[in-house]
Order: sequence, then C-alpha cells, then structure tokens
Amino acid sequence: MIAAAGDLAALDAVRVHALGKQGRITQLLKTLGAMSAEARQVEAPRIQALRESVAAAIAERKAVLEAAELDRRLATETLDLTLPVEPAPRGSVHPVSQVMDELAEIFADLSFAVAEGPEIEDDWHNFSALNIPESHPARAMHDTFYFDRTDGEGRKMLLRTHTSPVQIRAMMNQKPPLRIIAPGRVYRSDSDATHTPMFHQIEGLVIDRGIHMGHLKWTLETFLKAFFERDDVVLRLRPSYFPFTEPSAEVDVGFTLKDGRRVIGGCEGWMEVLGSGMVHPRVIAACGLDPDEWQGFAFGTGIDRLAMLKYGMDDLRAFFDGDLRWLRHYGFEALAVPTLSGGVGA
Ligand code: PHE
Repeated sequence: MIAAAGDLAALDAVRVHALGKQGRITQLLKTLGAMSAEARQVEAPRIQALRESVAAAIAERKAVLEAAELDRRLATETLDLTLPVEPAPRGSVHPVSQVMDELAEIFADLSFAVAEGPEIEDDWHNFSALNIPESHPARAMHDTFYFDRTDGEGRKMLLRTHTSPVQIRAMMNQKPPLRIIAPGRVYRSDSDATHTPMFHQIEGLVIDRGIHMGHLKWTLETFLKAFFERDDVVLRLRPSYFPFTEPSAEVDVGFTLKDGRRVIGGCEGWMEVLGSGMVHPRVIAACGLDPDEWQGFAFGTGIDRLAMLKYGMDDLRAFFDGDLRWLRHYGFEALAVPTLSGGVGA
C-alpha cells in the first residue's frame, strides 16, 4: 500500500489508516492494556517493531514523492532572466552620486586615485595632525559632533568635520609621490538653507618633489573647466587662511548673469567654490615625511555645493529629503554614466 501511494495525499491517507488515532497499528497498541503480563512481554516488542517499520517505510516513500514533486516543479517553472527586474524603475541616480562619479572621472584622467577614510575619526587625524592643536580657535569653528568616549590611545572620537583627515591617512599609509582625491560624508552641527548637518566634500592632495602653486592653479582650472563643461571658466585665487596649508587660497569662479540667473563663465561676479593651499610643512612632518624633500598642494570643496552650482538647485535640504518628485526633476538615469568624451554631465 505504501509503495503504491502515487502522491503525497495518497501516502498521507495510508499513514492515517495505519498510524492515526483510529489507525490499525494504534488499535493494536491499545490491545496491550488488556493482555496478561506474559502475553504483553511477547506482543509489545512485535507491535512496536511493526509500528517503526511502517513509519520508516512511509518516511522513505515520502522522500521519494517529494523529490519527484520538486523535479516536476523545476521542469515546469521557468524564469526569464532576460526580462528587466522592474519595467519602470522609480528611483534614479542622486545628483550627489552623479557629481562624485563626474569628479572621479575627471581626476582619474589626471591620474588621481580615490582614497577613503573613516567617518568616525579621532581628534588627532581630524585636527592635531592638521596643525590645529587643542587650544586652536579653528576647532571651535567646526561645530564638531563629539562622542563621549576616547579610543585606545586616549584620542577623542568625533564625526569628521572635513575630508582633510584623509590627507593624513594617505600620507601615513602610502609612499609619496601621491595623487589622491577623497570624496565622502562630513558632519557639522549646522542647519539652514545652505547648511545640513551631514554634507559631502571632496579632498584633493598631491605630494611630490618640487610642487608649487602653479601646479595647484593648473589642476583646479583643468578640473573646473571639465566639471562645468565650459572653456571660459575664470578662476580668482584670494589669499586666505587654513591651519593646514601655507600659503592658503580661497578659489572663486566667475559667473555672468543671463535672464537674472547666474551662469558659470566670464567674470561679472564671483562665487566661492573651494579652499586650497600648499600643504603646511608641519602637516608633512606630522605624517613622518621630510618637508624639505616633499611638498604638495591640497584642496577641498563641497560636493553638494558643486551640484547646486552646476545643476541649478537652490535649497541644500532638498538633497536629503528623499522626495521622489525632486529626484525625478533633478536626478539622472541609471545608465547615464559620466564619461569625459561624452561631456561628464551627459
Ligand atoms: N578642509 C577645509 C574645509 O573643510 C577645506 C580645505 C581643504 C582647505 C584642503 C585647504 C586645503 O573648509
């Protein structure tokens, strides 16, 4: 009967018939109670053995039937892997991701590698090594989010306030000469239409022999022309101050007014786009390199701000609202990978 059960339902009927509450073997077991002790000693093991062998045979048949059932399903079910997962995807590439890809593409062409560092930093990498000692007023300028614990070496932990600590990590972990960019998230306790507590920066660092301001200016000019996709981008370098660069320069790009809107190019007005300078000899020394042998330049800028300037968005907070309508308006198609030949914004 067990071997003849053609499917799982038939097999279950056999199981109920033999082993169920009213089943034949169950009934046999019940007869044990009425037997004499001697008779029970003989009968009990026989009935138990019968029950076990029937249960085993049912289990064996069940495995065979289940395997057959699986084979049948696999043979009939098909999945067309060439079909798109979702015919009409609703999301799109976020402008911040798009701009990061564009920057990586532009700097890869200038042979810069992409470097990374942790968002949870310690105050040595974020401040001290960058020539911002404990008592320095620049520490207060950064509106830092601190954790209430220190690392194993007694350093205060914090959310990095800029991507500049990646300069330190790159100089300490790699051998110069170096050409890196470091895009990523940074955090400051600040929030209004042009500031969000989390935003994105990109750092650039070149360390080599005989590096001077001319290299810095050419690199920034080449990068901003490629990024804004215009040859008439005009830069203005203003003397400035950062503890980790000397001399330091703030960089403005010129714009012209067209129908009341600012368009990058020309020089009717100026917009600040980045901070830069020659890496301070103390920073180079803090990383264990000899500042008489190695020099370099560094720059840092807000990726969100670059996106706003290039794609004409006016409120930074909308970047992080996760509003699909905003994304549909400003977002980029998943397959629109930026290439230099196609114009990085294409
Ligand atoms: N880290 C600076 C900031 O966040 C920018 C900067 C980077 C300036 C590198 C000079 C050199 O404002």
